[in-house]
Amino acid sequence: MNMTRRSLIAALGASAGAATLAGHGLAAVPGMPDWQVGYANAPVEGFAPRAMDLISGRLPDGFEGTFYRNGPAWFRYGSETTGHWFDGDGMVQRIALGGGKAVHSGQFVATTKHRMEQAAQRFLAPGFGTAGDASYPVASADDVNAANTSVLMVDGRLHALWEAGSAVELDPDTLETRGIRTWRDDLKGMPFLAHPKVEPDGTIWNLAVNGPHVGIYKINPAGGVERFDMVNLGAAPYIHDWAITARHLILIVQPWLVDRFVPPIVNALEWRPEEGLKLLIIDKDDMSRRRWAEVDGHAFFHTGAAWEDASGAIHVDIALYPEPYMGPGGGTNLMEGRYVPGEDEADGLLSRIIVEADGRARIESTGIGGEFPVVHPAFHGLGRRFTALIGGHSPGRPGARRVSLMDWQTGGASHFDYGAGRMAEEHLFVAKPGGRSERDAWLIGTVLNITSGRSEVHVLDLADISAGPVASFAARYAWPLGFHGTFAPA
Ligand SMILES: [Fe+2]
Repeated sequence: MNMTRRSLIAALGASAGAATLAGHGLAAVPGMPDWQVGYANAPVEGFAPRAMDLISGRLPDGFEGTFYRNGPAWFRYGSETTGHWFDGDGMVQRIALGGGKAVHSGQFVATTKHRMEQAAQRFLAPGFGTAGDASYPVASADDVNAANTSVLMVDGRLHALWEAGSAVELDPDTLETRGIRTWRDDLKGMPFLAHPKVEPDGTIWNLAVNGPHVGIYKINPAGGVERFDMVNLGAAPYIHDWAITARHLILIVQPWLVDRFVPPIVNALEWRPEEGLKLLIIDKDDMSRRRWAEVDGHAFFHTGAAWEDASGAIHVDIALYPEPYMGPGGGTNLMEGRYVPGEDEADGLLSRIIVEADGRARIESTGIGGEFPVVHPAFHGLGRRFTALIGGHSPGRPGARRVSLMDWQTGGASHFDYGAGRMAEEHLFVAKPGGRSERDAWLIGTVLNITSGRSEVHVLDLADISAGPVASFAARYAWPLGFHGTFAPA
């Protein structure tokens, strides 16, 4: 590790001082621990475009594009706190990078839920961990859509995603909400999962989860629906993510099952590990060709990606847990400034589920702790060498502090530790201009510096992430922690 560079980043980041929060509208709650700023209300008017300060290194030549991220950013009205981190209203952050500079802006997605609750100045809509107010009218899932989980760019059109409702289209420059995206008239209001899978040619596969009945979208790079099929899983698991290979779709049924559809959903989820973790493998070209595989019962939120080797074996990168976390209690604690390890957070292990051509399946763990596994987008669904993820703990604080790069070829991993005063978020691959190999890439990720009270964006070179960022920028304020993002090259 390059301690000189890391020390320099720490010193420069800290020099801005925690007082920066006060003048920029992020509503840190008095009496809360320092990390709770990651779960504080963002300014309701959003963040107008503002240049970030270069605090270390320089942006590489050719690094040009826009980094979008989404996450919950409204958690309390007065003394009332939302029932779960997952139920905060979505705010999309936008960081335009190029010419050596970074400019940040952010806006809430103007969902029905956000508009109604801001008008009433109280929580109304039911959600993942929120019971909701009986007076709140719920005619469709989009009345409770928080639009807070991820973003998807399709043919120049930007969308904020949630797992149980429609995609919401935003202006990619101003982040102004344009409205619900209807992919095809007969699919109006159909859920659009927050983990679409984008093939290297731009073809998008995604799920519409509605209990045991799951719709499968195939969307072309222009945004047209090529097909929509339904499958019945025979059970209603918590489905947050899934996987594809070049030839197959892989729906993963974890034994965390919904036994009734009454909000808050988290209370309706039952953990039945004895039922195993099942994978439904569907042939993309003939969806009647389906087979099941099974491994020991584990919980998960995220896959990295999957691929098939020459023998026909399927490999799925996945962050596995021995049991679910972020269930009842988890998530609410964070809003209220409490951190309960094991409830609010647990150690996921980057693992690989391998399903042999004959159907036998097994789990191989790398032993590397972490979450938010991500792969190079040009190799999604294909054989590849790397998976990036974030992990590591600071004592007494939630969140990750480290970015890791798993090298499946060598079986080893490299890491960069941002330190105890920072909370790291998902890091994405950005292909270098003209780069041909998977290795010709950078990683980009946001980090909340809780020592200085500033949000940062860092660029690392895949050639050696342990050397630390090649460029680091800090905003003069913080914005709340989020979930997922996308990078749109210029
Ligand atoms: Fe996710």
